[in-house]
Amino acid sequence: MNKPTDLARIPVDHDDIDTNVSSNEHFSTVLEARLSRRSLLRGGAATAASALLGAIGLSGCGGSDNDTVTAPTPPVGTTPPPPPPEKLLGFSAVSKSLADTVVVPAGYTASVLYALGDPLTANTAAYKNDGTDGDFENRAGDHHDGMEFFPLSSTGTASTSANDRGLLAMNHEATTDEKLSSFFVHANGGTMTLPRPAAEVDKEMALHGLSVVEVRRNGAKWEYLKDSSFNRRVHQQTEVEISGPVRGNALVVTKYSTNGTKIRGTLNNCGTGKTPWNTYLSGEENWAGYFTRAATDDAARGDRSVVSLNRYGRNQGAASRHGWETGGTDDKYQRWDISKKGASIDGSDDYRNEMNGMGYIVEMDAYDKAKAIKKRTALGRFAHESAVFGKPVAGQPLAVYMGDDSRNEYIFKFVSTAVWAAADATAADRIATGDKYLDSGKLYVAKFAADGTGQWIELSISNPAIASYAAYKFADQADVLVNARLAGDAVGATKMDRPEWCSVHPGTGEIYFTLTNNSNRRVEPSGSSQAAPDAANPRVYTDMKGTTAQQGNPNGHIIRVKEGTAGSTSTSFNWDVYLFGAEAGAAAATVNLSGLTADQDFSSPDGLAFSTSTGICWIQTDDGAYTDVTNCMMLAGVPGKVGDGKKVTLNYPRANGTTLSVDTYVGQTATTDTLKRFLVGPVGSEITGIAETPDGKALFVNIQHPGENTAAGNIADPAKYTSQWPSNAGYGAGKRPRSATIVITKNDGGRIGT
Ligand code: FEO
Ligand code: CA
Ligand code: CA
Ligand code: CA
Repeated sequence: MNKPTDLARIPVDHDDIDTNVSSNEHFSTVLEARLSRRSLLRGGAATAASALLGAIGLSGCGGSDNDTVTAPTPPVGTTPPPPPPEKLLGFSAVSKSLADTVVVPAGYTASVLYALGDPLTANTAAYKNDGTDGDFENRAGDHHDGMEFFPLSSTGTASTSANDRGLLAMNHEATTDEKLSSFFVHANGGTMTLPRPAAEVDKEMALHGLSVVEVRRNGAKWEYLKDSSFNRRVHQQTEVEISGPVRGNALVVTKYSTNGTKIRGTLNNCGTGKTPWNTYLSGEENWAGYFTRAATDDAARGDRSVVSLNRYGRNQGAASRHGWETGGTDDKYQRWDISKKGASIDGSDDYRNEMNGMGYIVEMDAYDKAKAIKKRTALGRFAHESAVFGKPVAGQPLAVYMGDDSRNEYIFKFVSTAVWAAADATAADRIATGDKYLDSGKLYVAKFAADGTGQWIELSISNPAIASYAAYKFADQADVLVNARLAGDAVGATKMDRPEWCSVHPGTGEIYFTLTNNSNRRVEPSGSSQAAPDAANPRVYTDMKGTTAQQGNPNGHIIRVKEGTAGSTSTSFNWDVYLFGAEAGAAAATVNLSGLTADQDFSSPDGLAFSTSTGICWIQTDDGAYTDVTNCMMLAGVPGKVGDGKKVTLNYPRANGTTLSVDTYVGQTATTDTLKRFLVGPVGSEITGIAETPDGKALFVNIQHPGENTAAGNIADPAKYTSQWPSNAGYGAGKRPRSATIVITKNDGGRIGT
């Protein structure tokens, strides 16, 4: 591949970060300067640090010039006391915990705000939480995941700066289940055999999707409003438009939409994003598992669709996760069987193409229920997580960064055809603005090189590697988008350790991607599902969980990308690894490469988002590797930038006596000023979803699937639930564990993470 030409690698010291003589600012300098940003800005000081910090604080996010705690007005004639000092990461680190509770630092309060089953209309009954509740089309869905806060003015209009009232839009990814049934939401744990009863299937389909709920500050406490007219549920019967290049394509023709323009529902939504025009983006992740295919479907189809289905995880004979297709003869059940059944050529008489309607970034206007929800197909089809915009620059195309969360899948970037017009930030018709920026553009896939550079390769039907790809004959550009994984294969994209969320540093504009873990990374791969370590995915090691040896990269890492000088349209970049997940006691030279201590060590980073108020990088875990020692957690980081660390070479012995040497680039070693554990969740939960008020003083976090390791057979005995959260925190009826949104506030009224 060609060497990038539009940027040079940032100088790094390869020996010791404390002797870094590059012109990069030392981050402690930056940190100190940041904390007195207000006075800097008032005084008009023009230092290198203030340039960066101004970018953090003034990028149009949060309008947070009130980020220093204001002292009360003193009596006349007295000297005002100095405002309380604010220090990022000024809190005491939370210890690892196996307790069935949410632990936050001293001086903070975490309160349950909105849980599975909570009513969303005035007429919906209170949640009994005993498995007999129905009407989930009017209740909070299950498995709260990615989430964004949409401020509301005091008069109830869309805002970008209100701090006391707003809408939480969130994903309801899945249900807690063991084998077929979603056991906590059914009285007896549900039916574990086929066929599934229609009533159970209806309930489960309603539990998946999105919700919008109004929340407000009432004195010191936050509450959700069950009778707000903004409240909304999107579930598997909600009609959603297919938008962008795939709209009307033969690949999405179904019995429900014979012209390929719509589908019911959005499924297994995981990460999120927020557009510069104030709408909600949701990523459809592990949707493939909900569909079934007959054992003889390959022969029935007899075309290239078989290649696509196999690549996306639906080999013929694959069983569906919940058996929803067995709920009855109604179309709403039959759509989950994607076998070719009809006689038509185009698929307009069955659901053979139904799965091609899932796997997109979906846009919703959280403020306006009347507006259509749209699948933005130009952003490609894969196991989407978050979709995050690079810093918008007037007159330049917008860039959207995304990951495909499966072992050895890819990182993508979408670049809009339309160039950014700042006036669109407050456009009245937000979905029409989405049409403008998200329905036309170029999709790129990332290829990471061993020298710390990388390339964005356009996935275009006019690329000969794609047009003449031997394994799959693409028909057109829509086919390239629907089969973005195959297109990525064709151009030799880098297989990553499960890309989860991404977020853009509000100061540097660099893009951070969590790579949660990969059990299929091997020094000497066997079979096509395994991959050898490379510079961007460099670790292969054994992590013991009790007596179980976990192989590959069980703890994951966080990679970051610095675009070239062309900004959003750059086709080359620099990268390094911000942090490697590890146990504090793991070998420093080969596993704990970021030098994590007991106050910082973590495994399997998943959720990741920067606060636009404080600039803190919040890191959330969805872990199964370190859970013998601690429940999942959230950490606060204050990162530097690409190139602030050093080069490391990892040497792996091969069976034949030779050595595989892998160079990688690790960011600055973590310190107590740059990384601290902030929260640990209840038993069996994943910490995910993060949103804040613009002033950074209320942080909303989702606790997903507490108690999910409960055996379904124990449904009748609450004493055998592995978690009883949040009822054990005083929230709601019953003892069955529930996914829920919590709100974190600081007792002194300060910003979260200080
Ligand atoms: Fe739903 Fe990739 O986590
Ligand atoms: Ca371990
Ligand atoms: Ca996730
Ligand atoms: Ca995950």
